[in-house]
Amino acid sequence: MSNLTLKYYLKDSQKNHYAIGQFNFSTFEQLRGIFMAAKKVKSPVILGTSEGESNYLGIKETVALVEISKIKYKVDAFLNFDHGKNLDLIKKAVDYGYSAVHFDGSRMPLEENIKYAKKVVEYAHKKNVLVEGEVGAIGTESSKIYKKDFKIKEKDLTNPEEAERFVKETRVDSLAISIGTFHGIEAHGRNPRIRLERLKEIKKRIGNVFLVLHGGSGTRDDDIKKAIKLGIVKININTELRIAYTRALKSNFRKKTEENTPYKYLPRAIDAVQKKVGEKIKLFGIKN
Ligand code: G3H
Ligand code: ZN
Repeated sequence: MSNLTLKYYLKDSQKNHYAIGQFNFSTFEQLRGIFMAAKKVKSPVILGTSEGESNYLGIKETVALVEISKIKYKVDAFLNFDHGKNLDLIKKAVDYGYSAVHFDGSRMPLEENIKYAKKVVEYAHKKNVLVEGEVGAIGTESSKIYKKDFKIKEKDLTNPEEAERFVKETRVDSLAISIGTFHGIEAHGRNPRIRLERLKEIKKRIGNVFLVLHGGSGTRDDDIKKAIKLGIVKININTELRIAYTRALKSNFRKKTEENTPYKYLPRAIDAVQKKVGEKIKLFGIKN
């Protein structure tokens, strides 16, 4: 564990063309799997909790768990409040020690999105907490497995001009953009392709604001690599971790129907999460 900040790492990833993974969690075992993977590959890591995940774990408990794990695993880890829509919860996350908050006003008209994002920035920056805004909507919800092809609506993609205006007026540190990915995965494993041209256009207009790719699960590896080359520095993964965790437990109970001791069956879920996170960190290109 060092004293380096999240801002330092995001700047470094811009300079050296890699991305830092944000891995969401809502259980102690997922958290453990994420830390074990980060330690193994000597990588900094961002831990994400959505409103639902934070409500389940408790904001104070989440911070405490991450703080103690940073010391135990000697990993530079940063907590991000993911897709915050409720300003009171966002403020709580800032007050209780999150390193970053994501204000998701993507379903609001741009004017309103800007107005609320400004309020979040004003509050969070006083405490040196980074703020991620969002322009363009990233559809659906993590965990979902779509049987049919997922169609992104053109109107939901990030409009580069709007992105430029949003970052100028709000002074957010990072921007989540909609460039073809969505939350969840397609059952047949062919998620839509990333709109690389759109990404280039956005990058040109927003300069050094940190660009964030949401809906990372199921996205093709080659698309991820190209997106990183074009300026994505943070990639959010949730669905694939939830599926790995749940499948490990289900398969365990199919074989050992009478196992009732949590500390005997839960390590399988930790291993599954660790493996998945390790693969993603390697894909995102960070070298020690
Ligand atoms: O904010 C969280 C992420 O965007 C997760 O997306 O569930 O498709 O991995 P995912
Ligand atoms: Zn997301």
